[in-house]
Amino acid sequence: MKLKTPRLILQPVRIADAKAFFDHASIPEVANNAGFLPSSITETKKYILKSAAEWKKTKPERMTFSILLKREKTWIGSLELRWLQEGVGEIGFFIHPNFWGNGYATEAAKATVKWAFRRGHAHRIQGSCWEKNAPSIKVLKKLGLRKEGRLRGVAKLGKTIQDDFLFGITIADWRRDR
Ligand SMILES: CC(C)(COP(=O)(O)OP(=O)(O)OC[C@H]1O[C@@H](n2cnc3c(N)ncnc32)[C@H](O)[C@@H]1OP(=O)(O)O)[C@@H](O)C(=O)NCCC(=O)NCCS
Repeated sequence: MKLKTPRLILQPVRIADAKAFFDHASIPEVANNAGFLPSSITETKKYILKSAAEWKKTKPERMTFSILLKREKTWIGSLELRWLQEGVGEIGFFIHPNFWGNGYATEAAKATVKWAFRRGHAHRIQGSCWEKNAPSIKVLKKLGLRKEGRLRGVAKLGKTIQDDFLFGITIADWRRDR
């Protein structure tokens, strides 16, 4: 499955992406903010193999995309849509710091949310991030997700336990606001 936007292609992550994935995921500004990322190349390969196996299922529980620039075919990041239960998806993403601030995360995530509501049978999409992750909060809000609360003590950054903010959008919100 591929999603195309004016500037991007989102395609299922492949084992050939492992090096680019880990090189990006291990940059401190990325790794310190995205809690779900693997911490070694071996772990990255395992994670990608699991993701590739998920993609083969009729209903993947985890849909992990590589994000590529459409024109240059450059790998710029990754986005994951994880199904928490039937119709409820959680979105997470990271973009290489060289490409921050160009609207790419917003463009990729908007296309995913649209797909989820239109074709993926979602009735709710949520996302969470560390309370001080201002760019991620901005992206989640630009997608139309609303802040719903604070998940106390849910995030661990090194030895520090921190709070996350939870954001969500229902299909009714999405239909009304778009
Ligand atoms: C979060 C992340 C994916 C955003 O990627 P991006 O492609 O730069 O995002 P966009 O360009 O679509 O939007 C970023 C917005 O944050 C804003 N922003 C950037 N730094 C900011 C800061 N320190 N304070 C407030 N807003 C900030 C940008 O100005 C932009 O908003 P605008 O379009 O209204 O100007 C990227 O910063 C990243 O990979 N971070 C590390 C991993 C991570 O935190 N992932 C999310 C966890 S789920």
